[in-house]
Amino acid sequence: MRVMMIAGNWKMNTTVSEAIALVNEMRPGLDEIDNVDKVICPPFVSLAAVSELIKGSSIKLGAQNIYFEEKGAYTGEISPIMLAELCEFVIIGHSERRQYFNETGEIVNKKVRSALAVGLKPILCIGEKLAENEAGRTEEVVTEQLRSSLAGLDYQSSLIIAYEPVWAIGTGKAATGEQANETIGLIRQTISQKYGKGAAQELRILYGGSVTADNTTEFMQQPEIDGALVGGASLKAEQFLSIVRQTSAIKGRLSG
Ligand code: PGA
Repeated sequence: MRVMMIAGNWKMNTTVSEAIALVNEMRPGLDEIDNVDKVICPPFVSLAAVSELIKGSSIKLGAQNIYFEEKGAYTGEISPIMLAELCEFVIIGHSERRQYFNETGEIVNKKVRSALAVGLKPILCIGEKLAENEAGRTEEVVTEQLRSSLAGLDYQSSLIIAYEPVWAIGTGKAATGEQANETIGLIRQTISQKYGKGAAQELRILYGGSVTADNTTEFMQQPEIDGALVGGASLKAEQFLSIVRQTSAIKGRLSG
């Protein structure tokens, strides 16, 4: 049985003091829920403070990006070993990074490798653009993104995938539960072909793109969806808590 996961991607929001305030607001409620993995991914500059703040809590910490080299003359970059000291997860290949920072499949692949090499758990993001969706190319695009991101890699159970259709991110126009379930099913099939049935059964695949407290139930009732990567709604303590609570309630029902 896969443990559900709700991950908050704070993107380029919150100063250090704002991040501390937000964690303080969320922590008591999140700590009441124990059948969902709760991950928050604040900006790099807040990771150290937040990691101290959540010691002894069940909240887990992730970064939003990583560089693939271990160390050296790469001004401004953050390496896998630096992150491994602070957090457990790292978001890799988010569509905003692919779009604004020219991250190719090859770069994403190097980042996934470098994260796994130091024991960081990658949350690998894939998803099609609006034009690709409208042209009926969703399956082709996500399959290719999976192929390039995971090229030459053995399966590792710490891997997590987030299916995030680009047209649904930050637009308020989420996919339907059925659409997301169908594509996530295809992703699972591709994983099954590449790594076998056991891996496909074990792998957690999240949906991301305009998830809110109002549409969480629709996604979490789908059998293929193992949680959500939440952007905007993860910056509001009440919204994020509600998403986690609803996920917990639905999972309880499914497993009971
Ligand atoms: P959103 O972002 O929830 O604001 O659409 C999701 C994401 O980019 O991970």
